[in-house]
Amino acid sequence: MSTPLPAPLTVGQPLTALAPMQDVTDLAFMGVIAHYGAPDYFFTEFFRVHAQSRPEKHILRSIDENATGRPVFAQLIGEDLGHLARTAEELLRHNVAGIDLNLGCPAPKVYKKNVGGGLLRDPERIGEILATLRAIVPGLFTVKMRIGFDDTTPFDRVLELVNEHRVDLLSVHGRTVKEMYRSEVHYDWIAHAVARARCPVLANGNITSAHKAATVLTDTRAAGVMIGRHAIRNPWIFSQCRELLSGQPVSRITLADVHDYIQRLYHATLSPSLPERDHVNKMKKYLNFVGQGVDPTGAFLYDMRRAESERGLFGICDQHLLTDPTRNFSLEPYPGVIARPNCETPDGTADGCSLATITA
Ligand SMILES: Cc1cc2nc3c(=O)[nH]c(=O)nc-3n(C[C@H](O)[C@H](O)[C@H](O)COP(=O)(O)O)c2cc1C
Repeated sequence: MSTPLPAPLTVGQPLTALAPMQDVTDLAFMGVIAHYGAPDYFFTEFFRVHAQSRPEKHILRSIDENATGRPVFAQLIGEDLGHLARTAEELLRHNVAGIDLNLGCPAPKVYKKNVGGGLLRDPERIGEILATLRAIVPGLFTVKMRIGFDDTTPFDRVLELVNEHRVDLLSVHGRTVKEMYRSEVHYDWIAHAVARARCPVLANGNITSAHKAATVLTDTRAAGVMIGRHAIRNPWIFSQCRELLSGQPVSRITLADVHDYIQRLYHATLSPSLPERDHVNKMKKYLNFVGQGVDPTGAFLYDMRRAESERGLFGICDQHLLTDPTRNFSLEPYPGVIARPNCETPDGTADGCSLATITA
């Protein structure tokens, strides 16, 4: 008998999940998101699995010290059957909602090792991995995938394998590996997965707002949505989804609310080992996304990128967010206001997905 998925916060509503994001979805960030309105499910950033790997301590913290009240799935990236099994067994000793397999990471240094999105070139290897993990995961076993590598040729075969190995939940990012992060999202292929998969499917990719979530749910008939970058921009997005999907008006967010979010995020992500200047630079990576909703000209982004100290950064935040504090924060990103770097080139040296290279 299969294990039921954890109940959503509002029973009967479509599911919501915070997408796994390397260097973002850690304990601190999950706590901040939960403060403004938790998703139904969290996913850790990926645990790397190879011969010498041990589950990374900082990622384990997001499971062991999770105080959000919501379940956390532990994500693995790797291709060696024995090491994947060993790592899954180790993670199952922690309070995880389930084990998730990454079949999507598009960084060339990753896919060249035939892990993440690279595995989509070898569906039969995916079948072996699914069989191995299914055999040792007694509870929930989930998969997050893209719709193909160069194109969608392997998609149907992978969906067959997902059914054959009784995957419990499938998250589909509606782009191929080669499409990275900025092409249009192929929601029709997510609908295709919904029609074929026996398990619930979460639709993922460019879900910018509660209204966009509702449209994608209607168009794909997915069981829920998984949201990444737009939850960095707007941490209220999950509670807004719940409002809209239960027929209530979506709460408006003011610039003063955004100021509160930035302060909370700054303090939550402080670390004694991180010098102030480095912490300010780390904040800029989140603010790249936040800035897309502050003003239509990108003036906040322009100024924020020049901050060199905490005092400087909050001076800029005060000026842009508290001069007219009751003004609305835009629920959709302003068109043309791009989170830098604004050209997405596959970075052959990055060994994962980093905020420094991924934009929206
Ligand atoms: C900074 C960053 C890091 C990411 N790290 C991971 C990861 O560790 N595992 C994973 O499956 N996907 C990862 N992704 C992909 C996201 O989970 C998601 O599929 C993608 O961003 C599309 O959703 P969005 O448009 O809502 O952001 C990452 C994305 C970003 C922006």
